[in-house]
Amino acid sequence: MFKRFRRKRYNPVLRDLLQETHLRVEDFIYPLFIKPGSGIKEEVASMPDVYQMSIDEMIKECETLKSLGIYSIILFGIPATKDSVGSDALCDHGIIAEAIRAVKKAHPDMFVVSDLCFCEYTDHGHCGVLDPVLHTVDNDITLANLGLQAQVHARAGVDMIAPSGMMDGMITAIREGLDSGGFEHIPIMSYSSKFASAYYGPFRDVAESAPSFGDRRSYQMNPANRNEAILESLADEEEGADILMVKPALAYLDIIRDVKNHSKLPLACYNVSGEYSMLKMAGRAGVIDYDRVMMETLIAFKRAGADIIITYHAKEAAKILRGA
Ligand code: PBG
Ligand code: ZN
Repeated sequence: MFKRFRRKRYNPVLRDLLQETHLRVEDFIYPLFIKPGSGIKEEVASMPDVYQMSIDEMIKECETLKSLGIYSIILFGIPATKDSVGSDALCDHGIIAEAIRAVKKAHPDMFVVSDLCFCEYTDHGHCGVLDPVLHTVDNDITLANLGLQAQVHARAGVDMIAPSGMMDGMITAIREGLDSGGFEHIPIMSYSSKFASAYYGPFRDVAESAPSFGDRRSYQMNPANRNEAILESLADEEEGADILMVKPALAYLDIIRDVKNHSKLPLACYNVSGEYSMLKMAGRAGVIDYDRVMMETLIAFKRAGADIIITYHAKEAAKILRGA
């Protein structure tokens, strides 16, 4: 007969009663990549079912998202022109500002988060202004520009700002930029423990943001470092971040748990492009049961301690959660 553990496992109703972790549509933030133009919806080869789209298509896409119960999006801009500082992102009529303004006008009930960085907007593809001597990102000039870009997003009507550039002091600088502009009500979700990861490869295709030289290891974290990840998230908490984040997610479940155990702030994780594409490609090759592996992966993020999951799987998972 069944004993100790198995006696609680054979009845499916009891199994549900005893489920410890739950995944909800409300847990998801869905990423969208916006470019200038109209009627544009282009799939990216390395990320099946993920599209670069123009603003009008984004507005249509939000209808679909809402019909699935997804009310949170994070926007990435792909500008028409790039330069050494990323001017498009500092302009009230650049792609990210126009996208925020348009989506909030058409869908005031959508919660619009903006990714705040410069790598999509600079011609060299790095996350800020370069130091001409050191050929790496100049931290403090970039901080000033991040404060300005935050004000651009805020003036366009963004609901929450998510800085992803891993500059030292970025939360202080952005908070000051927001508060001095009269935007004290806008929360900051910091990419607080963000690793220099090869899992971002497909994203850099879709966001057209691969660095033209070198890599991001002088600002993003070493994947081998656990204590540093905790310290850096706690530093962002001290600087005033409202929500912390661990990125990537799947190979960093231990870090999600570590940060959760060290901070009482809400925690997000970013289930990144490479993680998404691995499942997609394996599913398409018939190697795994895609839906089941996806749901198992997403609930693992909750179990590890994430409250919010930024994921390209959001629409597919929402369909399953709603039994559609
Ligand atoms: C920009 C940014 C990146 C991602 C989110 N914001 C890329 C990078 O740091 O190179 C990655 C997202 C993904 O891989 O899905 N700083
Ligand atoms: Zn960046």
